[in-house]
Amino acid sequence: MADHVIAIDQGTTSTRAIVFDRTGTPVAIGQREHEQIMPQAGWVEHDALEIWRNVQEVIGIALGRADLTRHDIAAIGITNQRETTVVWNRRTGQPVCRAIVWQDTRTQAIVDRLAADGGIDRFAGVVGLPLATYFSGTKLAWILENVDGARDAAEAGDLLFGTTDCWVLWNLTGGVDGGVHVTDVTNASRTLFMDLRTLEWRDDILEVFGVPRSMLPEIRSSSEVYGFAESSSLLRETPIAGILGDQQAATFGQAAFHAGESKNTYGTGCFLICNTGREIVHSGNGLLTTVGYQLGSGPVHYALEGSIAVTGSLVQWLRDQLGIIDSAAEIEPLATSVPDSGGVHIVPAFSGLFAPYWRPDARGAIVGLTRYANRAHLARAVLEAVAFQTRDVLDAVNADIAASGGVPLSELRVDGGMVGNETLMQFQADVLGVPVVRPEVAETTALGAAYAAGLAVGFWDGLEALTANWREGRRWEPRLDVSERERRLRVWRKAVEKSMDWID
Ligand code: G3P
Repeated sequence: MADHVIAIDQGTTSTRAIVFDRTGTPVAIGQREHEQIMPQAGWVEHDALEIWRNVQEVIGIALGRADLTRHDIAAIGITNQRETTVVWNRRTGQPVCRAIVWQDTRTQAIVDRLAADGGIDRFAGVVGLPLATYFSGTKLAWILENVDGARDAAEAGDLLFGTTDCWVLWNLTGGVDGGVHVTDVTNASRTLFMDLRTLEWRDDILEVFGVPRSMLPEIRSSSEVYGFAESSSLLRETPIAGILGDQQAATFGQAAFHAGESKNTYGTGCFLICNTGREIVHSGNGLLTTVGYQLGSGPVHYALEGSIAVTGSLVQWLRDQLGIIDSAAEIEPLATSVPDSGGVHIVPAFSGLFAPYWRPDARGAIVGLTRYANRAHLARAVLEAVAFQTRDVLDAVNADIAASGGVPLSELRVDGGMVGNETLMQFQADVLGVPVVRPEVAETTALGAAYAAGLAVGFWDGLEALTANWREGRRWEPRLDVSERERRLRVWRKAVEKSMDWID
């Protein structure tokens, strides 16, 4: 009997496959990192073929470690780094160029051109997003405008576009031999092309971007059988039955199914999502409006999102670019070797500033340096920057909630790679002034995709069964005195100001 579900989590820095049992407990994990290619300032690329190879490898590793075969797997779920854009030839399966990653800012000139007529919120009423380099639409336009032969091939119907969920699904379901070209509503809501109300591509917006509709995948719900894993001998004939963008998957994995429920994920970046139920709420405070999930033909759940581009990747920067630490795990002992950051603040505006500021003209800043500052102070400032940025986003969420007469968030559910860092979590509770709560299973992203897939094939009965799986693991209460918290926030905001208006 198939007593497990497998989730493929195609993230920004690595690809993982995780096998879950019926209680939502991870049984085995396979993981492979892929190369981060940065050919020039502001550009970030991935090799989509390397990612596809890694997907196949991690499936094998996870199944091997769990000592399971395809007969033990009821369904496959896919979750992914969102917005990262792949364009490939449907006849050869070859990408036309490297995937352009969500952090990449090369499309600023396209954004400026499109915003010249109507401003950055030109399409926001329809798609929920401002014009920004972050979203797939501008990346796809760049490929069509800059890659030799891409436009002609696209117009001849030879090219397909997809985010990495779509790329993995197409390959897994047979690739050039009948691969299924589908994405889900959550990923489609990050393109700038999908109408949030109708859940369909908007021809008028596609025309403005110069994108042929034939390149786009079909938009489906987050939980239904899209196809079967024909090209994976290990999972042959297993249904692929769930797709959610990674932040929506983490929200789902945190059992935040209802309006008012939220989570913050600490990955490469940080993404706070607040479920707004069936209502499309447009933020007055710099948050994005996005799709939370849709199960089969059920109602769509929308969400507000505060996206922070650089958090975990700031730790990687400390390791890889500055060489201050040798491994990410070293940051915590180094940061706690000093009592505070010595007045140093780092504003990691590497891709400009995302929510709640949306300032493409910002660039990273290290301020407050004195001769006293050392590498430990920098390490501490890195962790503090993660927490301060989250506070800025939480303030925006609470301002939107207050504007609609609601109650501010009384605690923050957290997950993701950095939540094992006790110092960060305590500091996070301190600067928020509300408790921070980590679930027992912190692998919520993969779990959310597994849930979506399992629901579609009847492996789980419904949302109640999933809610029952959620168990509190750890809670951090705020300890910082209020006036000290306010003082630190004031200094942080001065630092943020310094990072802005940097590009001439
Ligand atoms: O929007 C980008 C986001 O989906 C990336 O998530 O966890 O891979 O950094 P992560």
